[in-house]
Amino acid sequence: MEKHVSAVAERGRSQKQKRMENIKITWVFVSHCLILLLSAAILSAEEQVDIRRSDFPHGFFFGASTSAYQVCNIADGTSGDIANDHYHRYMEDIEIIHSLGLTAYRFSISWSRVLPSMRETWWVNQAGINFYNSIIDNLLLRGIQPFVTIFHNDYPQELEDRFGGWLSSLMQEEFVHFAETCFKHFADRVKYWMTINEPNLLAEVTYERGLFPPARCSPPFGHCASGNSDVEPLIAVHNMLLAHGKAVKLYREQYKSKVNGVIGITVCAYMYTALTDFKDDKEAANRALAFNAAWMLDPLVFGDYPPEMKRYHGSELPSFSSEERELLRDSIDFMGINHYGTLYAKDCIHSHCICNDSVYTLGSDRLIRGFVYTTGERNGFPIGEPTGMSQFFVVPRGMEGIVNYMKERYHNKPMFVTENGYSSPGNEDDIYQHDVKRIHYHQLYLASLAQAVRNGADVRGYFIWSLMDNFEWSSGYALKFGIYRIDPQTLNRIPKTVCYLVQRFLEQFQPWCCRIV
Ligand code: FCB
Repeated sequence: MEKHVSAVAERGRSQKQKRMENIKITWVFVSHCLILLLSAAILSAEEQVDIRRSDFPHGFFFGASTSAYQVCNIADGTSGDIANDHYHRYMEDIEIIHSLGLTAYRFSISWSRVLPSMRETWWVNQAGINFYNSIIDNLLLRGIQPFVTIFHNDYPQELEDRFGGWLSSLMQEEFVHFAETCFKHFADRVKYWMTINEPNLLAEVTYERGLFPPARCSPPFGHCASGNSDVEPLIAVHNMLLAHGKAVKLYREQYKSKVNGVIGITVCAYMYTALTDFKDDKEAANRALAFNAAWMLDPLVFGDYPPEMKRYHGSELPSFSSEERELLRDSIDFMGINHYGTLYAKDCIHSHCICNDSVYTLGSDRLIRGFVYTTGERNGFPIGEPTGMSQFFVVPRGMEGIVNYMKERYHNKPMFVTENGYSSPGNEDDIYQHDVKRIHYHQLYLASLAQAVRNGADVRGYFIWSLMDNFEWSSGYALKFGIYRIDPQTLNRIPKTVCYLVQRFLEQFQPWCCRIV
């Protein structure tokens, strides 16, 4: 009898719970529909951009990007590194990706999660392998292609303490060991690999400007405890390129055939345009491009540093032996391009540059910067609408510009736009109605990309940075690039308005109340 009463009470409770859940779901659904209608109204008041999935070739990937350190960490109450606890919530995140209709997800492997210590110990952390196996399997189960970045800024502290990380050639073998561990465990399912994320930017922020750990630099770039801004970025990149070349050789020889995968690298790819019509500034814009993305890509396509760099640099630019040139030449199947903005370029060889008006203009008249002053302003007017990141302005035509540059310089090698995204200026609220700017940003950049594709550029995919707000390196949680917001207390994922537009663009979102014709 007692059992029966408690069973009835239990049933009553679970029915009540169900009713409450239904009410909650309905409410969330209705409120999101209202937000969508509101945003559509705001959008229609602004410039409408007619961009459709059908503007891109069949099979073109639409994805979102994250990186391990920025989203994975676990709240432990001892540091700011709470991030989004993707480690425990990855299934929820995969469901989100699926519900948006995205066909690819780009993420990175945490080096220290997989290999907690150096190569000599041969210790592989099985729990880390299981975690990535589960992500990969669950993505594939839902028809989402995993795009794996092997290294995205984070490496075990031990490698820094023992020999100084990327400043030492010893790092090359450590990286190859890490890459091989990833290939061994995941290459039977992962088809798209990127060895390193943005070696060029990492070298700049770490060894030139000293903004990222281990924070090394020298004047005029900054006043760090130690470092040499004119030389160390060149050494770090040299080691990263050789590490890439060795890992690619291994991949092609032993792992590629498993699923006929492809391997590339991702570079930070600003577009530069001359500040004035003077020849010197036009040359400065070309130099800036060569000293930025081509610094990485020329060696990996042609086997050596760009002629524009070799023209000015002396012995501080490390050189490749003939075997190394052979190793590097043609060592990418595709180019990953992280593109956020465009800057003006001004020559500092023939004219004087004032190089102290921001942290990013310090040292513009130095060789390591190609003697180029870059700025987002001309005569007091910004090149495009400012965003939360001082170097990123909204200049959609820059997307077509950088893609065309790559197409011309590298004989139309396949490309993926591996990152493109918007963070709102600090004084603006990032949620709901202000997200209209993010929507507009993606529409305009996609339209510009579609134009490049129409003109023959071999671009095969576009990834939004980022799936969710996350730990934005030296800016912490202040900058928000995500299409999902993270509730700081509960870490719940809350869709921003842009998500509905993503769904609509990907032809996923069809309920009667929200359909906009
Ligand atoms: C890129 C990085 C990425 C993120 C975005 C905003 O340079 O690859 O991790 O920080 O910028």
